[in-house]
Amino acid sequence: MTVQPATLSGLDLRAEIDRLRKERNAIILAHYYQSAEIQDLADYIGDSLELSKKAAATEAEVIVFCGVKFMAETAKTLAPEKIVVLPDLNAGCSLEDACPPEKFRAFREAHPDHIALTYINCSTEVKALSDVIVTSSSAETILAQIPPEQKIIFGPDRHLGGYLSRKFNREMLLWPGVCIVHEAFSETELLKLKAQHPGAPVAAHPECPPSIIDHADYVGSTSGILGFAKSFPGDTLIVATEPHIIHQMEKALPGKTFIGAPGADGQCSCNICPYMALNTLEKLYLTLRDLKPRIEIEEGLRLRAKQSLDKMLEMASASVGKGDLGGR
Ligand code: 13P
Ligand code: SF4
Repeated sequence: MTVQPATLSGLDLRAEIDRLRKERNAIILAHYYQSAEIQDLADYIGDSLELSKKAAATEAEVIVFCGVKFMAETAKTLAPEKIVVLPDLNAGCSLEDACPPEKFRAFREAHPDHIALTYINCSTEVKALSDVIVTSSSAETILAQIPPEQKIIFGPDRHLGGYLSRKFNREMLLWPGVCIVHEAFSETELLKLKAQHPGAPVAAHPECPPSIIDHADYVGSTSGILGFAKSFPGDTLIVATEPHIIHQMEKALPGKTFIGAPGADGQCSCNICPYMALNTLEKLYLTLRDLKPRIEIEEGLRLRAKQSLDKMLEMASASVGKGDLGGR
């Protein structure tokens, strides 16, 4: 993986980040798809649900969110009194882009008897138009609590929605968004890789299309995949999600081999999230130094979005379902 130079005009960036995080009473939250060097200096690394919970509970005054914008906006929605900063405001998400709020509103209005169960990878506006938010680690627990006769719109990820729909044998109206990263995995290349590593299981994120999920031994969120990597009995695992998560696997299990599932070119390079990659050590340092760019959300919008997020936090902690998509 590319290692960023550790200096900005001769500064020791890691030492400066350490100094500033104490001075600012800041917590650095990082998603598993961040670069290894950002993961290594974060105070906390997690999946979308874990990071949301951490943001809601922290006593730090500043949250430096090393992830993408919808994640930082979720932190601000849940912790409005905190200063929330994101190293690069252009760190978006193809799923958020695929679901413009006005189109989503019109779709909801056309289906008044449906509730909107919405993946957290969306804008604050779309959260405000939704009934319950889910993450990949909470979706199954939450769906299990919705009465079977209740009609559901699921957006914006049609692959996660389709996976849930098949697993629960439950029809849902699916919004046609996809993650450009998980969409890039190639079934043909995956089958070639499996043939080269007979017996190696495949762990896949549910944002993958069915052509990849069909070959997976385990399907789950980033934290679920990490848990599977720590417990599978073999010595080689094929990982069908953004490859930066492999850093945590290699740290936890240095004796095992983790191979990123390939894209159509046979390489994993097309499967690196271009949005997550916008956050660099230099930008992280500047963000801590200047306390910007900041996430700001208009209060009425924040309160409306908070309702569907609070519902997620409440339903995700209920003791039904498995707590992750775990298994097939
Ligand atoms: P997780 O909640 O599984 O970390 O997924 C977030 C995401 O954006 C995956 O692409
Ligand atoms: Fe969005 Fe996909 Fe990147 Fe996750 S990996 S942040 S879903 S574009």
